[in-house]
Amino acid sequence: MKHRVGILTGGGDCPGLNAVIRAVFRRAEQYDYEVIGIRDGWKGLMEMQCDPLTRQQVSGIHLFGGTILGTSRTNPFKKENGAETVAENMKKMDLHALIAVGGDDTLGVCNKLSKMGLNTVGVPKTIDNDLSATDVTFGYDTAVSIATECIDRLHTTAESHHRTLVVEIMGRHAGWITCAAGIAGGADMILVPEEPFNIVEVCDVLKKRAARGKKFNIVAVSEGARFSEAPGVEGSLVLQTADKDAFGHVRLGGIANILAKEIETRTGFETRSVILGHIQRGGTPTAYDRILATRFGVKAVDLVREGRFGVMVAIHGTNIEAVPLEEAVGKTKTLDMDVYETAKIFFG
Ligand code: F6P
Repeated sequence: MKHRVGILTGGGDCPGLNAVIRAVFRRAEQYDYEVIGIRDGWKGLMEMQCDPLTRQQVSGIHLFGGTILGTSRTNPFKKENGAETVAENMKKMDLHALIAVGGDDTLGVCNKLSKMGLNTVGVPKTIDNDLSATDVTFGYDTAVSIATECIDRLHTTAESHHRTLVVEIMGRHAGWITCAAGIAGGADMILVPEEPFNIVEVCDVLKKRAARGKKFNIVAVSEGARFSEAPGVEGSLVLQTADKDAFGHVRLGGIANILAKEIETRTGFETRSVILGHIQRGGTPTAYDRILATRFGVKAVDLVREGRFGVMVAIHGTNIEAVPLEEAVGKTKTLDMDVYETAKIFFG
């Protein structure tokens, strides 16, 4: 009988997910495995929402963002008997192995299920690039490209209207996207979660720039950045809502608005804010992300074939390898501060 391998995508959508799904299918086909597409992440596995994938369904999908399987932030370990239900359903569906594509939350579940004896392989994804044990995650390159293009476009208005534009970029715990897009887009100030900022110092830099004759500024700020000192908001994250999802995350967003007001009040420069939001996760993946996602998908199936479970695929240098899931989850890979130091050379 054919081996059946399940695949699900969990957490926020991310450019490259479809390339993984296609690659898993095509590699599995070579080994004569049947691939079962599970709908909407762990939710679909708990509710047995799944169907065998076909060659036609995965044909050409690597070009598209999002995930044909759908996704959710469901956490089986937060549901009554959730993990047991997942285990039972894997048995009922006759799944020899499960490939879970996701970030820290999805892979954390994958790791726990593996410890319960289920055959799981993880594939790392997140635009935030904050997963440990892999040099990079797919989706990050696309997000950086989009954010860079947005900064390029904002330059037009900033320069023409002599304004300061504050652009808020995703990155809950890490400033990877903000720093990279800020450097590429030539931002005059880059603020990241790793280093709370002093508003007086930020404004001083912008004022000095004005004294040199520059009539506009671009400030790139991560959604997870924090003021070290400012009335009422020091040290705290700026939230859209304090409600938490099943993995305990609050929804961030809005720091650009507060920062823009502070800058305008303290400098007198006309200042506006722009929140890029989900635009950064949408649309077609870059060639780099399509290739990385494809290599990850192929490797995940190879690991299933080798019977290596409780592992995650990863890229180290140019090599695609397997690392224990345990090494990848629960530890945020924060921004490389050498890169941030380089960015600072161009502040002001
Ligand atoms: O983890 C990826 C990410 O895009 C973060 O940068 C962001 O904080 C979060 O997801 C937003 O999630 P949601 O789309 O569920 O609001």
